Amino acid sequence: MKASAIAHSNIALIKYWGRSRNHDPNLNIPSNDSVSMTKYGLTDDIHLQTHTTIEFSDNYQEDTANLDGAVLVGRNMDRILRVIDPLRKYADVDAKFKMMSKNDFPTQAGLASSSSGFAALAIATVNALGIHFTKEEISKYARLGSGSAARSIHGGFVYWNKGSSHETSFAQQICGPNEFDMNAVIAIVHEGKKEVTSDVGHNLAHTSPFDAVRIQRSEEQAKEIKKAILSDAFAKVGETAEENCKYMHAVMMTSTPPLYYWSPETLRLIRSTQKIRKEGLECYFTIDAGPNVHYFCRPEDTLELQKMLEKIEGVSKTIPVKPARDSQVVKKHLF
Ligand code: DP6
Repeated sequence: MKASAIAHSNIALIKYWGRSRNHDPNLNIPSNDSVSMTKYGLTDDIHLQTHTTIEFSDNYQEDTANLDGAVLVGRNMDRILRVIDPLRKYADVDAKFKMMSKNDFPTQAGLASSSSGFAALAIATVNALGIHFTKEEISKYARLGSGSAARSIHGGFVYWNKGSSHETSFAQQICGPNEFDMNAVIAIVHEGKKEVTSDVGHNLAHTSPFDAVRIQRSEEQAKEIKKAILSDAFAKVGETAEENCKYMHAVMMTSTPPLYYWSPETLRLIRSTQKIRKEGLECYFTIDAGPNVHYFCRPEDTLELQKMLEKIEGVSKTIPVKPARDSQVVKKHLF
Protein backbone atom coordinates (compact mmCIF):
# COMPACT_ATOMS: atom_id res chain seq x y z
CA MET A 1 0.00 0.00 0.00
CA LYS A 2 2.62 2.45 -1.18
CA ALA A 3 2.41 4.94 -4.05
CA SER A 4 4.15 8.06 -5.33
CA ALA A 5 2.98 10.96 -7.46
CA ILE A 6 4.34 14.10 -9.07
CA ALA A 7 2.12 17.17 -9.33
CA HIS A 8 2.77 20.65 -10.73
CA SER A 9 1.76 23.98 -9.26
CA ASN A 10 -0.63 26.27 -11.11
CA ILE A 11 -1.13 29.98 -11.64
CA ALA A 12 -4.68 31.32 -11.61
CA LEU A 13 -5.90 33.45 -14.52
CA ILE A 14 -9.23 33.91 -12.73
CA LYS A 15 -8.62 33.90 -9.00
CA TYR A 16 -10.12 31.97 -6.15
CA TRP A 17 -10.22 34.42 -3.25
CA GLY A 18 -12.74 33.77 -0.50
CA ARG A 19 -14.78 30.72 0.46
CA SER A 20 -18.51 30.41 0.14
CA ARG A 21 -19.98 31.40 3.50
CA ASN A 22 -22.89 29.00 3.05
CA HIS A 23 -20.74 25.91 3.55
CA ASP A 24 -18.42 24.35 6.10
CA PRO A 25 -15.18 26.40 5.68
CA ASN A 26 -13.15 23.17 5.87
CA LEU A 27 -14.61 22.07 2.53
CA ASN A 28 -12.91 24.97 0.70
CA ILE A 29 -15.94 25.62 -1.51
CA PRO A 30 -15.01 28.87 -3.32
CA SER A 31 -17.22 31.92 -3.88
CA ASN A 32 -16.57 31.82 -7.63
CA ASP A 33 -15.40 29.60 -10.50
CA SER A 34 -11.68 29.97 -11.25
CA VAL A 35 -9.34 29.18 -14.15
CA SER A 36 -5.64 28.34 -14.16
CA MET A 37 -2.63 27.16 -16.12
CA THR A 38 -0.71 24.24 -14.62
CA LYS A 39 3.01 25.12 -14.75
CA TYR A 40 6.12 23.23 -15.79
CA GLY A 41 9.33 25.12 -14.96
CA LEU A 42 11.69 25.31 -17.93
CA THR A 43 14.94 25.59 -15.95
CA ASP A 44 17.18 22.56 -15.28
CA ASP A 45 16.58 22.46 -11.53
CA ILE A 46 13.15 24.08 -11.02
CA HIS A 47 10.14 22.40 -12.62
CA LEU A 48 7.71 23.76 -9.97
CA GLN A 49 6.65 20.30 -8.93
CA THR A 50 6.10 18.23 -5.82
CA HIS A 51 7.07 14.58 -5.53
CA THR A 52 5.23 12.70 -2.77
CA THR A 53 5.37 9.12 -1.49
CA ILE A 54 2.85 7.68 0.95
CA GLU A 55 2.64 4.24 2.52
CA PHE A 56 -0.11 2.79 4.71
CA SER A 57 1.02 -0.07 6.94
CA ASP A 58 0.06 -1.76 10.19
CA ASN A 59 3.75 -1.53 11.10
CA TYR A 60 3.41 2.22 11.63
CA GLN A 61 2.35 3.22 15.16
CA GLU A 62 1.32 6.75 14.16
CA ASP A 63 0.72 8.98 11.12
CA THR A 64 3.84 10.90 10.10
CA ALA A 65 4.49 13.45 7.36
CA ASN A 66 7.72 15.05 6.24
CA LEU A 67 8.13 17.94 3.78
CA ASP A 68 11.60 18.84 2.51
CA GLY A 69 13.19 17.22 5.57
CA ALA A 70 10.94 18.85 8.18
CA VAL A 71 8.40 16.87 10.24
CA LEU A 72 4.91 18.35 9.78
CA VAL A 73 2.87 19.10 12.90
CA GLY A 74 -0.05 21.30 13.98
CA ARG A 75 -1.97 23.08 11.22
CA ASN A 76 0.20 21.58 8.46
CA MET A 77 -0.52 18.03 9.64
CA ASP A 78 -4.23 18.87 10.09
CA ARG A 79 -4.48 19.92 6.44
CA ILE A 80 -2.89 16.64 5.35
CA LEU A 81 -5.32 14.66 7.49
CA ARG A 82 -8.23 16.56 5.93
CA VAL A 83 -7.31 14.92 2.61
CA ILE A 84 -6.25 11.50 3.91
CA ASP A 85 -8.87 10.75 6.59
CA PRO A 86 -11.92 10.77 4.28
CA LEU A 87 -10.03 8.64 1.74
CA ARG A 88 -8.93 6.19 4.45
CA LYS A 89 -12.53 5.95 5.55
CA TYR A 90 -13.76 5.50 1.96
CA ALA A 91 -11.27 2.62 1.48
CA ASP A 92 -12.15 1.18 4.89
CA VAL A 93 -8.49 1.17 5.94
CA ASP A 94 -7.33 1.64 9.55
CA ALA A 95 -3.57 1.52 8.96
CA LYS A 96 -1.37 4.50 9.83
CA PHE A 97 0.69 6.23 7.14
CA LYS A 98 4.16 7.54 6.48
CA MET A 99 4.34 10.39 3.98
CA MET A 100 7.38 12.08 2.50
CA SER A 101 7.26 15.02 0.12
CA LYS A 102 9.79 17.13 -1.77
CA ASN A 103 9.27 20.43 -3.58
CA ASP A 104 11.81 21.43 -6.22
CA PHE A 105 11.17 25.10 -5.38
CA PRO A 106 11.05 27.17 -2.18
CA THR A 107 7.98 26.39 -0.06
CA GLN A 108 5.57 29.32 0.44
CA ALA A 109 7.48 31.75 -1.76
CA GLY A 110 4.29 32.79 -3.49
CA LEU A 111 4.95 30.04 -6.01
CA ALA A 112 1.86 28.10 -4.90
CA SER A 113 3.56 25.11 -3.32
CA SER A 114 0.31 24.03 -1.69
CA SER A 115 -1.38 23.48 -5.06
CA SER A 116 1.20 20.94 -6.22
CA GLY A 117 1.63 19.55 -2.70
CA PHE A 118 -1.99 18.63 -2.06
CA ALA A 119 -2.54 17.46 -5.64
CA ALA A 120 0.42 15.05 -5.33
CA LEU A 121 -0.85 13.94 -1.90
CA ALA A 122 -4.37 13.20 -3.19
CA ILE A 123 -3.11 11.26 -6.23
CA ALA A 124 -0.58 9.22 -4.21
CA THR A 125 -3.09 8.46 -1.43
CA VAL A 126 -5.86 7.32 -3.78
CA ASN A 127 -3.40 4.98 -5.49
CA ALA A 128 -1.82 3.67 -2.30
CA LEU A 129 -5.30 2.82 -0.98
CA GLY A 130 -6.25 1.10 -4.24
CA ILE A 131 -9.22 3.42 -4.87
CA HIS A 132 -10.40 3.74 -8.49
CA PHE A 133 -11.32 7.38 -8.93
CA THR A 134 -11.53 9.65 -11.97
CA LYS A 135 -9.33 12.77 -12.03
CA GLU A 136 -12.40 14.86 -11.23
CA GLU A 137 -13.06 12.78 -8.12
CA ILE A 138 -9.43 13.08 -7.00
CA SER A 139 -9.71 16.85 -7.53
CA LYS A 140 -12.40 17.02 -4.81
CA TYR A 141 -10.05 15.49 -2.24
CA ALA A 142 -7.09 17.67 -3.27
CA ARG A 143 -9.42 20.64 -2.66
CA LEU A 144 -9.84 19.64 0.99
CA GLY A 145 -6.11 20.33 1.57
CA SER A 146 -5.88 23.52 -0.48
CA GLY A 147 -8.45 25.00 -2.84
CA SER A 148 -6.05 25.69 -5.68
CA ALA A 149 -4.80 22.05 -5.52
CA ALA A 150 -8.14 20.97 -7.00
CA ARG A 151 -6.91 22.51 -10.29
CA SER A 152 -3.40 20.97 -10.21
CA ILE A 153 -4.75 17.44 -10.79
CA HIS A 154 -5.05 18.34 -14.47
CA GLY A 155 -2.40 19.66 -16.86
CA GLY A 156 -2.79 22.46 -19.40
CA PHE A 157 -5.64 24.90 -18.77
CA VAL A 158 -8.13 24.12 -16.04
CA TYR A 159 -11.59 25.26 -14.91
CA TRP A 160 -12.69 24.79 -11.30
CA ASN A 161 -16.46 24.83 -11.09
CA LYS A 162 -17.25 26.22 -7.66
CA GLY A 163 -20.16 23.81 -7.18
CA SER A 164 -22.36 23.83 -4.10
CA SER A 165 -21.18 20.79 -2.12
CA HIS A 166 -18.18 18.50 -1.67
CA GLU A 167 -19.51 16.33 -4.49
CA THR A 168 -20.00 19.15 -7.00
CA SER A 169 -16.91 21.34 -6.41
CA PHE A 170 -14.07 20.04 -8.62
CA ALA A 171 -11.83 21.00 -11.52
CA GLN A 172 -11.95 19.92 -15.16
CA GLN A 173 -9.47 20.39 -17.98
CA ILE A 174 -10.33 23.08 -20.56
CA CYS A 175 -7.59 21.95 -22.93
CA GLY A 176 -4.29 20.09 -22.81
CA PRO A 177 -0.83 21.70 -22.55
CA ASN A 178 -0.26 21.76 -26.33
CA GLU A 179 -3.65 23.09 -27.31
CA PHE A 180 -3.23 26.75 -26.36
CA ASP A 181 0.08 28.50 -27.04
CA MET A 182 0.86 30.38 -23.87
CA ASN A 183 3.90 30.38 -21.57
CA ALA A 184 4.68 32.46 -18.52
CA VAL A 185 7.75 34.03 -16.95
CA ILE A 186 7.81 34.44 -13.17
CA ALA A 187 9.69 37.52 -11.98
CA ILE A 188 10.88 36.81 -8.45
CA VAL A 189 11.40 39.84 -6.24
CA HIS A 190 11.17 38.15 -2.88
CA GLU A 191 11.65 34.50 -1.86
CA GLY A 192 10.64 34.60 1.80
CA LYS A 193 7.53 33.17 3.40
CA LYS A 194 4.19 34.91 2.89
CA GLU A 195 3.35 37.36 5.68
CA VAL A 196 -0.34 36.41 5.66
CA THR A 197 -1.36 33.00 4.31
CA SER A 198 -4.10 32.66 1.70
CA ASP A 199 -6.04 30.71 4.29
CA VAL A 200 -6.38 33.84 6.46
CA GLY A 201 -7.10 35.97 3.39
CA HIS A 202 -9.96 33.73 2.25
CA ASN A 203 -11.71 34.45 5.54
CA LEU A 204 -11.27 38.22 5.19
CA ALA A 205 -12.47 38.68 1.60
CA HIS A 206 -16.11 39.20 2.62
CA THR A 207 -15.13 42.24 4.71
CA SER A 208 -14.27 44.22 1.56
CA PRO A 209 -17.05 46.35 0.04
CA PHE A 210 -15.78 45.21 -3.37
CA ASP A 211 -16.08 41.49 -2.63
CA ALA A 212 -19.53 41.02 -4.20
CA VAL A 213 -18.49 42.89 -7.35
CA ARG A 214 -15.34 40.80 -7.69
CA ILE A 215 -17.30 37.57 -7.27
CA GLN A 216 -19.87 38.55 -9.88
CA ARG A 217 -17.27 39.73 -12.41
CA SER A 218 -15.08 36.67 -11.78
CA GLU A 219 -17.98 34.36 -12.60
CA GLU A 220 -18.44 36.13 -15.94
CA GLN A 221 -14.71 36.33 -16.62
CA ALA A 222 -14.19 32.62 -15.93
CA LYS A 223 -16.64 31.77 -18.71
CA GLU A 224 -15.22 34.44 -21.05
CA ILE A 225 -11.63 33.30 -20.56
CA LYS A 226 -12.51 29.65 -21.14
CA LYS A 227 -14.02 30.63 -24.48
CA ALA A 228 -10.98 32.78 -25.31
CA ILE A 229 -8.58 29.90 -24.48
CA LEU A 230 -10.52 27.55 -26.74
CA SER A 231 -10.49 30.06 -29.61
CA ASP A 232 -6.78 30.95 -29.23
CA ALA A 233 -7.61 34.58 -28.40
CA PHE A 234 -4.36 35.35 -26.56
CA ALA A 235 -4.97 39.09 -26.05
CA LYS A 236 -8.42 38.47 -24.61
CA VAL A 237 -7.00 35.81 -22.24
CA GLY A 238 -4.22 38.11 -21.07
CA GLU A 239 -6.39 41.21 -20.66
CA THR A 240 -9.04 39.28 -18.73
CA ALA A 241 -6.45 37.68 -16.43
CA GLU A 242 -4.80 41.05 -15.73
CA GLU A 243 -8.13 42.67 -14.92
CA ASN A 244 -9.17 39.82 -12.64
CA CYS A 245 -5.88 40.02 -10.73
CA LYS A 246 -6.46 43.72 -10.05
CA TYR A 247 -9.95 42.97 -8.73
CA MET A 248 -8.53 40.43 -6.28
CA HIS A 249 -5.85 42.82 -5.02
CA ALA A 250 -8.47 45.58 -4.67
CA VAL A 251 -10.42 43.24 -2.40
CA MET A 252 -7.28 42.31 -0.46
CA MET A 253 -6.31 45.95 0.09
CA THR A 254 -9.82 46.93 1.19
CA SER A 255 -10.42 44.03 3.60
CA THR A 256 -10.47 44.55 7.36
CA PRO A 257 -7.64 44.28 8.26
CA PRO A 258 -6.21 45.14 4.83
CA LEU A 259 -3.77 42.84 3.06
CA TYR A 260 -0.99 44.45 1.05
CA TYR A 261 0.93 41.73 -0.77
CA TRP A 262 2.79 44.05 -3.17
CA SER A 263 6.25 45.36 -2.52
CA PRO A 264 7.70 48.46 -4.26
CA GLU A 265 9.30 46.08 -6.79
CA THR A 266 5.86 44.61 -7.61
CA LEU A 267 4.54 48.04 -8.56
CA ARG A 268 7.69 48.72 -10.59
CA LEU A 269 7.01 45.50 -12.54
CA ILE A 270 3.34 46.41 -13.09
CA ARG A 271 4.40 49.77 -14.51
CA SER A 272 7.06 48.17 -16.70
CA THR A 273 4.42 45.98 -18.35
CA GLN A 274 3.05 48.96 -20.27
CA LYS A 275 6.57 49.82 -21.47
CA ILE A 276 7.30 46.25 -22.54
CA ARG A 277 4.04 46.12 -24.48
CA LYS A 278 4.80 49.45 -26.16
CA GLU A 279 8.13 48.01 -27.29
CA GLY A 280 6.16 45.37 -29.13
CA LEU A 281 6.27 42.34 -26.84
CA GLU A 282 2.75 41.27 -25.98
CA CYS A 283 2.54 40.18 -22.34
CA TYR A 284 0.11 40.40 -19.42
CA PHE A 285 0.73 40.18 -15.69
CA THR A 286 -0.90 38.45 -12.76
CA ILE A 287 0.00 38.39 -9.06
CA ASP A 288 -1.05 35.93 -6.35
CA ALA A 289 -0.96 36.39 -2.56
CA GLY A 290 2.65 37.58 -2.60
CA PRO A 291 4.93 40.13 -4.26
CA ASN A 292 6.16 38.06 -7.23
CA VAL A 293 4.74 38.71 -10.70
CA HIS A 294 3.79 36.16 -13.37
CA TYR A 295 3.83 37.36 -17.00
CA PHE A 296 1.91 35.49 -19.69
CA CYS A 297 3.38 35.54 -23.19
CA ARG A 298 3.37 33.59 -26.43
CA PRO A 299 5.97 30.75 -26.29
CA GLU A 300 8.25 32.35 -28.93
CA ASP A 301 8.58 35.51 -26.78
CA THR A 302 9.58 33.69 -23.56
CA LEU A 303 13.35 34.18 -23.76
CA GLU A 304 13.13 37.82 -24.86
CA LEU A 305 10.66 38.60 -22.05
CA GLN A 306 12.89 36.86 -19.53
CA LYS A 307 15.83 39.07 -20.62
CA MET A 308 13.70 42.22 -20.35
CA LEU A 309 12.41 41.33 -16.87
CA GLU A 310 15.88 40.50 -15.57
CA LYS A 311 16.99 44.06 -16.34
CA ILE A 312 14.33 45.55 -14.06
CA GLU A 313 15.64 46.72 -10.70
CA GLY A 314 14.65 44.43 -7.83
CA VAL A 315 14.12 41.28 -9.92
CA SER A 316 16.39 38.65 -8.35
CA LYS A 317 15.51 35.78 -10.64
CA THR A 318 13.15 34.75 -13.42
CA ILE A 319 11.63 31.32 -14.00
CA PRO A 320 10.17 30.55 -17.45
CA VAL A 321 7.30 28.07 -17.48
CA LYS A 322 5.12 26.28 -20.03
CA PRO A 323 1.82 24.48 -19.49
CA ALA A 324 2.45 21.20 -17.66
CA ARG A 325 0.93 17.83 -18.44
CA ASP A 326 -1.42 16.09 -15.98
CA SER A 327 -0.09 15.38 -12.52
CA GLN A 328 0.38 11.64 -12.16
CA VAL A 329 1.55 8.50 -10.41
CA VAL A 330 5.27 7.76 -10.70
CA LYS A 331 7.25 4.61 -9.97
CA LYS A 332 10.07 6.33 -8.08
CA HIS A 333 9.49 6.30 -4.31
CA LEU A 334 11.14 8.72 -1.87
CA PHE A 335 11.63 5.99 0.78
C1 DP6 B 1 -4.25 33.92 -4.58
O1 DP6 B 1 -6.20 28.40 -0.52
O2 DP6 B 1 -5.41 27.47 -2.72
O3 DP6 B 1 -3.38 31.82 -5.25
O4 DP6 B 1 -3.49 28.87 1.23
O5 DP6 B 1 -1.67 28.35 -0.38
O6 DP6 B 1 -3.46 26.66 0.12
P1 DP6 B 1 -3.08 28.11 0.02
O7 DP6 B 1 -3.86 28.68 -1.23
P2 DP6 B 1 -5.32 28.52 -1.70
O8 DP6 B 1 -5.58 29.96 -2.35
C2 DP6 B 1 -5.09 30.38 -3.58
C3 DP6 B 1 -5.20 31.85 -3.69
C4 DP6 B 1 -4.57 32.47 -4.91
C5 DP6 B 1 -5.53 32.48 -6.10
C6 DP6 B 1 -5.74 31.17 -6.83
O9 DP6 B 1 -4.81 30.35 -6.92
O10 DP6 B 1 -6.83 31.00 -7.38
